[in-house]
Amino acid sequence: MYFLRDVPGVLVILCALFFSAHAASEGDDDKGGPCEIFVQDVNNLTLNCSRRHIDKIPTWPATLETQGKEDGHVRITFFNNSISNVTQLAPVPGNRIAISFKSNKIVEIEDDAFRNLDHMVYLDLSNNYISGEVLRSEIFQGSYKDGVYSDIDLETLNLGYNEIHSLDKYLFQHTPNLTRLYINNNPIEILDHVTILALSSAKKLEVLDLSKTDIDNIPLDAFRGLSYLRQIDLSGNFFLNVPESLSLVGDSLQYLTFNNNPLVELNDDSFVGLSNLVELEVGENENLEEVKRSTFSPLKSLRVLHMCHNKNLRYISHNAFRGLKDKWTLKEVYLDDNNLSELSTDLMPWNKLETLGMTGNSWLCNCDLANIITKQNAGTKFRTGEIPYCAAPMRLSGSYITNISVSFCPQFDTTFAPKRGFSISDLKPKHIIWSILGVATIVGIGMICGLLVNTAKAFYKKTFRSQPIRYVNISETFA
Ligand SMILES: *[C@@H]1O[C@H](CO)[C@@H](O)[C@H](O)[C@H]1NC(C)=O
Ligand SMILES: *[C@@H]1O[C@H](CO)[C@@H](O)[C@H](O)[C@H]1NC(C)=O
Ligand SMILES: *[C@@H]1O[C@H](CO)[C@@H](O)[C@H](O)[C@H]1NC(C)=O
Ligand SMILES: *[C@@H]1O[C@H](CO)[C@@H](O)[C@H](O)[C@H]1NC(C)=O
Ligand SMILES: *[C@@H]1O[C@H](CO)[C@@H](O)[C@H](O)[C@H]1NC(C)=O
Ligand SMILES: *[C@@H]1O[C@H](CO)[C@@H](O)[C@H](O)[C@H]1NC(C)=O
Ligand SMILES: *[C@@H]1O[C@H](CO)[C@@H](O)[C@H](O)[C@H]1NC(C)=O
Repeated sequence: MYFLRDVPGVLVILCALFFSAHAASEGDDDKGGPCEIFVQDVNNLTLNCSRRHIDKIPTWPATLETQGKEDGHVRITFFNNSISNVTQLAPVPGNRIAISFKSNKIVEIEDDAFRNLDHMVYLDLSNNYISGEVLRSEIFQGSYKDGVYSDIDLETLNLGYNEIHSLDKYLFQHTPNLTRLYINNNPIEILDHVTILALSSAKKLEVLDLSKTDIDNIPLDAFRGLSYLRQIDLSGNFFLNVPESLSLVGDSLQYLTFNNNPLVELNDDSFVGLSNLVELEVGENENLEEVKRSTFSPLKSLRVLHMCHNKNLRYISHNAFRGLKDKWTLKEVYLDDNNLSELSTDLMPWNKLETLGMTGNSWLCNCDLANIITKQNAGTKFRTGEIPYCAAPMRLSGSYITNISVSFCPQFDTTFAPKRGFSISDLKPKHIIWSILGVATIVGIGMICGLLVNTAKAFYKKTFRSQPIRYVNISETFA
């Protein structure tokens, strides 16, 4: 979901156009092809070829040439057609070109398909039938001059929802500006040697989506050289641990999404080296039961923690944030929809948070929770309409945790409702029973101690009095 922020400006064009849509439609009088041209302003135009039941890339309408500006932005979309073969595209005027083939039936891409589009910065090939073999190194290369292929400006490449097992090691040799790569929802299974060579050749990579790729491991050196990688999504895979290989990009990594993996616990090894991480999301991990001590300790820059929908997460160590409390950076913590019932008062400096989410758990409304909510002000951090409920004890079940009365909690005597003068009418049967039980317990313990002492005395008399005390010569024993 973070990825949305990064979609480049070219996409904005589409949205803006969508709303001002038919205002400037000039495509109608163009009989050259099925697509429609929308001119947004002198610098931006969209060629809409979406949902037109086309199975071949059409020739561009003549107006594209006349209306396009050399330094303009052009967006071309073939969304939801039946194109199976991406053949060589004709030149398009403009210096930032975005093309989408999302949701077609692509099984083949011709060599040099994009050689006329050196200024293509965005290419969406998602939701097709592209295999790794189709993605040859000859595809993403520019014009051929003086015996060499030139580079293309490609910055964003979406290969999601295809049939890719492996990437050609030279796939990115002519795309030096590649910053966002989406290969999510492909049956990769194993990041093999060539795929890793391909990835590490994309030196400017900032965003990498490897979610739902059936991988359970990332080789240690997979991200070597990717010193700009700041965002990675590993959700929906088979990881039992957060891969150690992430620490190789610890200097640059800011956003980690690690949802829906079969990990059982998080511990002090989980996030080693990720000292610049700003946002962490670990949710929907059905097997996750425990967050152990020092789990978050390496995350010295963390601002936002999403740890939600882990439906078996029952326990967070009170030392989970060990070592971070002095230089606290976290502003938002979301613990919604887990299986938590208790939190320890010293888990974190609750009053330093800006937003806290705790809904959807089975909270035991005890004095610790009351302390967190009232004394440490956590109760003021909930978003509107997101006040968590108590599940226990029975008498508080169903009330807001911000509603719980804590007059019975000793540590609140000063900060909370000052106690009224004591009167006999304050005594409830429960109190009396507890008092009697208390006294009885003390008397009982006293009696047991007395008995023990007496027995011990008797025993001592019997066993030791009869034997002479033996003195051991210390110097002898040590000699
Ligand atoms: C139009 O193009 C300019 C740059 O040439 C860009 O800054 C602007 O955001 C674009 N407008 C829209 C609506 O996309
Ligand atoms: C593109 O054309 C299709 C089919 O006419 C239409 O459904 C869609 O809304 C258009 N998209 C934009 C951005 O105008
Ligand atoms: C594409 O269009 C067809 C109808 O032509 C529709 O059934 C299908 O759901 C659409 N696919 C997507 C991804 O929108
Ligand atoms: C794709 O188109 C090219 C150029 O027309 C052609 O040579 C090639 O055989 C086509 N491939 C398939 C699989 O149709
Ligand atoms: C890559 O980006 C740089 C800097 O933004 C730019 O000068 C260059 O033209 C882009 N394209 C290629 C192919 O390097
Ligand atoms: C939450 O934990 C309890 C045991 O503490 C268990 O009985 C219950 O099934 C768990 N809830 C879910 C949704 O897994
Ligand atoms: C919270 O307290 C208010 C006022 O005491 C009461 O009206 C409300 O019903 C309580 N709500 C819950 C859910 O406990």
